[in-house]
Amino acid sequence: MRYRIIVCDDEEGMCKYLAKMLGSWGYQVATYVSPLKMLRALSESETSGDLLLLDIKMPELDGIETLRRVKELQPEMPVIMMSGHGTIELAVEAMKLGAYDYLIKPFPQEKLSALTKNALKQKQLREENTQLKKALQERQLPNAPVFVSKTFGEVYRLALRVAESHSSVLVLGESGTGKELIAGAIHYNSPRAQNRLVAINCAALSETLLESQLFGHVKGAFTGAVQAQKGLLDEADGGTLFLDEIGDISVALQVKLLRVLQEGDFLPVGATRTCSVDVRFIAATNKNLEKEVAAGNFREDLYYRLNVIPLTLPPLRERPEDIEPLANHFLVKSAAKTGHRVSRFSPQALAVMRTYQWPGNVRELENAVERGVILSHGDEIGLESLPLKILEPNKSSPGGVNGPVLSLREAERIQVIRALKQTRWHKSRTAELLGVTRKTLDRKIKDFDLSPEDTETAE
Ligand SMILES: Nc1ncnc2c1ncn2[C@@H]1O[C@H](COP(=O)(O)OP(=O)(O)OP(=O)(O)O)[C@@H](O)[C@H]1O
Ligand SMILES: [Mg+2]
Repeated sequence: MRYRIIVCDDEEGMCKYLAKMLGSWGYQVATYVSPLKMLRALSESETSGDLLLLDIKMPELDGIETLRRVKELQPEMPVIMMSGHGTIELAVEAMKLGAYDYLIKPFPQEKLSALTKNALKQKQLREENTQLKKALQERQLPNAPVFVSKTFGEVYRLALRVAESHSSVLVLGESGTGKELIAGAIHYNSPRAQNRLVAINCAALSETLLESQLFGHVKGAFTGAVQAQKGLLDEADGGTLFLDEIGDISVALQVKLLRVLQEGDFLPVGATRTCSVDVRFIAATNKNLEKEVAAGNFREDLYYRLNVIPLTLPPLRERPEDIEPLANHFLVKSAAKTGHRVSRFSPQALAVMRTYQWPGNVRELENAVERGVILSHGDEIGLESLPLKILEPNKSSPGGVNGPVLSLREAERIQVIRALKQTRWHKSRTAELLGVTRKTLDRKIKDFDLSPEDTETAE
């Protein structure tokens, strides 16, 4: 990442001299001879900086007052004051107001270089610290995936290997298979881990909103754009941008994205000058992008750009050996979160979970376990705390000898639910189907605590 330094000095010669020197050290520099103009630019977010070099003696507005206002606008930006011999006391006062340090003119290059480096280093450390704290608060620290299967292991190992590179990655897989989790694993194991992982769900926003979120906009770019705003691409500079549900973006936005991928630059909404960024892209979708390309909904060139390294996550039903370790992992997590003292599954509950097909994959399993933790009474999650849908005999093994053996009571419950669903709660017909009297059926419904809503959601 290139640091950006703002220089504010009423002497134009000084501005030019500093801009040249700082520029030659690789910094981006913005200069202002007018402190008022600089303050306006800062307040309207037209400019921003990682460091400010601020002169103390300026006729328009003195450095001390300028510093005070800068600290209100951007309290995190370190400020190094520049003072002449006669104004050392002022420099000391500035330190009390929060300036990082001061330089006495004329100062040697080495002094400027060392102070600049230190100030930027300190700012970076502080930022990392707050980011870390925030991540901890939001529990966003990278979660290591849980698995024992060979198939998931292969994809995960490949993910770790590509993490080192800068290549774009396309993560494919059914809903709930762990695409976002893998994107996180790639970022946090990459050389970009110190910078941000920014995620955006492309399907959740309208085209215009998505565009301004991604690329940012200048002030007045559209009605309501009262302030300029940076886009997520800027936020992800030096880090990773995770484009979730990429299959849903419009063709117009695909063109803009392609440009970022190819050239590394883009045009914020309403801007006339392009911005450049250094971002690694990870995209995910549960759509079949090749089909979308063939149907003309997705640009082929963008597809190839994104698909440098495809990672396809296997659905949970193709790796049933992962079900138990995942279920135990979610049990511990949910129990800790909710404060329930649940520590295991009953053997029957585990057996049912192992043979269920999990169309919603790991997310469905996670939700089922969380529900089980909340509903179970003792320290064990039994069949009665699992969603009805899971208890239904598997479509793949209807009543087969290989399916899990249920207790008679559980089997009875499932049969009653099935009959009620088939007859749409027509009780006499249900009783007939089950070969019992209406009265017995009513008792069973009460006993099993069934209601039409429950059996609806069970489908
Ligand atoms: N191997 C795993 N180990 C632990 N947790 C997992 C694993 N795979 C998925 N999860 C968890 O399951 C949930 C769903 O995963 P994730 O959001 O990554 O799926 P997704 O593929 O992005 O789903 P969607 O397509 O619906 O967006 C998350 O809470 C995630 O942490
Ligand atoms: Mg996802």
